[in-house]
Amino acid sequence: MKRRHFLRTSLAAGTAAAATLTVGRAASAVPVRSLGLDERRWDRATDGPLRLSSNENSLGPSEAARRAILDGMGEANRYTHGLAGELRARVAAHHGVDEASVVLGNGSTEVLRMAVQAMAGPGGWGPSPALLVVPDPTFEHVEQYAGPWGLELLKVPLRPDHRHDIDRMREAARAARGGSSRGPVLAYICNPNNPTGTLTPCREIEDWIREADDVVFLVDEAYFEYVDHPSYRTALPLALERPNVVVTRTFSKVYGLAGLRMGYGLAHPEAARRIQAFSGRSNLNAMGILAATVSLGDDTHLAHSLRTNEDARRVTYDVLDELGLERLPSHANFVLHRISGDQAQYIRRMREAGAWVGRQFPPFLSHNRLSFGTPEEMGRFAEILREFRRRGWV
Ligand SMILES: Cc1ncc(COP(=O)(O)O)c(C=O)c1O
Repeated sequence: MKRRHFLRTSLAAGTAAAATLTVGRAASAVPVRSLGLDERRWDRATDGPLRLSSNENSLGPSEAARRAILDGMGEANRYTHGLAGELRARVAAHHGVDEASVVLGNGSTEVLRMAVQAMAGPGGWGPSPALLVVPDPTFEHVEQYAGPWGLELLKVPLRPDHRHDIDRMREAARAARGGSSRGPVLAYICNPNNPTGTLTPCREIEDWIREADDVVFLVDEAYFEYVDHPSYRTALPLALERPNVVVTRTFSKVYGLAGLRMGYGLAHPEAARRIQAFSGRSNLNAMGILAATVSLGDDTHLAHSLRTNEDARRVTYDVLDELGLERLPSHANFVLHRISGDQAQYIRRMREAGAWVGRQFPPFLSHNRLSFGTPEEMGRFAEILREFRRRGWV
């Protein structure tokens, strides 16, 4: 049986079958323990420091993903063309789009980098670099990727209610197009936004996209799955109909695969083809592909992951409210909350107390970004925070 066909057959039977997924013949007979893989390592997060600094998922990969990784070990000596094709098909089916609209990346950050290069570089959207408009603060990768291309950077502060200031971003883009600049205008939208965890109304984003064919929109939906708000929706339909819109998603957050580096972009086939041209050859790793493939559509793990995040959020909110530490409304797996005293000192003291918390995100110098771990981890964090209060540190 051809490898691709075999994989598809296994996957077609759903998550239960995926749990026993075997790729080809290579790995199936190798018991896990003979590889020296102590299963306790999966639980490493429970005995080390509390890692609440990088918006990771403390649950880690699903059971099916873990088995897929172990069973797939025998694929580690092979290039991944066939496997990547399988994942692309899965992603396309999951979103109901054509495979030509899917760009797989080494994390969604790679897709963002590829998209910046495709749109801002020679032969891209315009003849010369011009402007990148971003909300401030936000996830910084796009502005870092744009730097070498010479794009002017315009940071537009979030509104007082912490949504993107779409009016000002739009105005800046319009002014650039009306001025002497003939190059592309790129706009980065992060919804929900990192580090604030807040939402920008989709209607505002969509209205801007509809009126601005000459702006390239990178719409980062890394935390899409966590949002439970009636008016929130993906920008995917607009991306499919317009070649100037790219939506990115990741397996790093709700699926718990951050270390495997798996993400993807969804775009009009024309845009996807341009972006794909900036991909590293064989940019994905086999274990990541296998884990992502079985994770997508694993509704049981997804629900568990979301429930765990909700429970962890409740534990966290309870202690913040108890201590009177104001928080922003979070629609993701982290919260930005107020602290008192010096921010750098708070972060250092937390580390000494065994909790890694978020770094500094100017202009929020009286706040800290805290990722939600498991409810149990957040209980441990709550105890540390209460102790900080007793010592007058927060
Ligand atoms: C908004 C946002 N986009 C993208 C990423 C990067 O995700 P990935 O691991 O898929 O590269 C992150 C990671 O924290 C993020 O917060």
